[in-house]
Amino acid sequence: RQAEMTSFNFYRLLRPFLFLIDPEKAHHLALMLLKMGAGPHIKNDALDILKTRVCGLNFPNPVGLAAGFDKQAEVMDEMFGFGFGFVELGSITPRPQSGNAKPRLFRIAEAEAIINRFGFNSDGFDVCQRRIIAHYDASVQKSLGILGINIGKNKDSTDAAADYTVGIKKFAPYAHYLTVNISSPNTPGLRDLQEREKLAGLLEQVMAMRNACAKKPPLFVKVAPDQTTGQLADIAEVALASGVDGIILGNTTVTRPASIPAVLAKETGGLSGKPLFEMSTSALASLYKLTQGKIPLIGCGGIASAQDAYAKILAGASLVQLYTALIFEGPFLVRRVNRELAALLARDGFKSVGEAVGKGT
Ligand code: FNR
Repeated sequence: RQAEMTSFNFYRLLRPFLFLIDPEKAHHLALMLLKMGAGPHIKNDALDILKTRVCGLNFPNPVGLAAGFDKQAEVMDEMFGFGFGFVELGSITPRPQSGNAKPRLFRIAEAEAIINRFGFNSDGFDVCQRRIIAHYDASVQKSLGILGINIGKNKDSTDAAADYTVGIKKFAPYAHYLTVNISSPNTPGLRDLQEREKLAGLLEQVMAMRNACAKKPPLFVKVAPDQTTGQLADIAEVALASGVDGIILGNTTVTRPASIPAVLAKETGGLSGKPLFEMSTSALASLYKLTQGKIPLIGCGGIASAQDAYAKILAGASLVQLYTALIFEGPFLVRRVNRELAALLARDGFKSVGEAVGKGT
């Protein structure tokens, strides 16, 4: 407890200085510190009430790290040390690419939000696969945690389905689950893959590839939060027909809620963090109704507390993910969310996370 308090206060003390640094440089500094072992080393409390089984995988808790923090598969072991129930790497693109010009990451401290337009800066499949293999024997097989691998496409690729299927083949042996990311706003045309016909064609191809693999990890598709109910209905219908194992809702938004100062609202890119919470949670609730609880949903967008995580679960999420709140709350956030989530579930008479899924709708 003492250690937790000290570290927590330490992050609060450190934050103003971190926030003086250019955001992308601060991220690299954080990765460097993590690699040096300066991050938390939390043993998963594995409170019984938080344990949950989704798609045949046993999660020690339902709170995961969203894609984008560890794009290059450099700190997966360290991120399990935060107390995450699962960690999603990527997005990783087939060939290495540098992404958009800098600056491409913007902090909006007053709104506890981020705008990013990285555009899939990636070391590419081969380099990331090598890193994952190096960690695989050491940690994943020893079951440090559940590892998701999120696949993107190269900006100049003309055959999106080929990019994803190559990734599925490459990473299926090492992933507990795979994510097909079709919702980054920073790769031109990517979000069009969510349209009914295109989505049906894509999911057919990626599922065929997954089913042809020797090891067949569950496959999730990650969609955007800023969609109409009609668009969500198309996604629900096509996803259910395709046999895909789950839907992550969702990615960053291209909309700009009023809480974003005008100077920053002008920046192109995807907005994440607190201002995304309500929009993404109400889209999640719609998607849960549309899928009638037939496939697991992973709720992501603006989670910064146990209450937020609980609200996503009540709206229909079997699992949740977060990223942006780590920047504002620091490394002990995950343990706090888990402990308080356990208390909220118990308060309302739920014996497990699974029992609470969709109970708020
Ligand atoms: C992201 N996100 C993201 N998602 C994805 O599928 N592939 C990616 O490469 C990235 N990259 C990325 C970079 C940065 C800097 C941010 C802030 C976010 C989106 C992320 O996984 C998540 O869906 C959203 O950020 C919403 O969750 P939070 O951050 O509000 O908890």
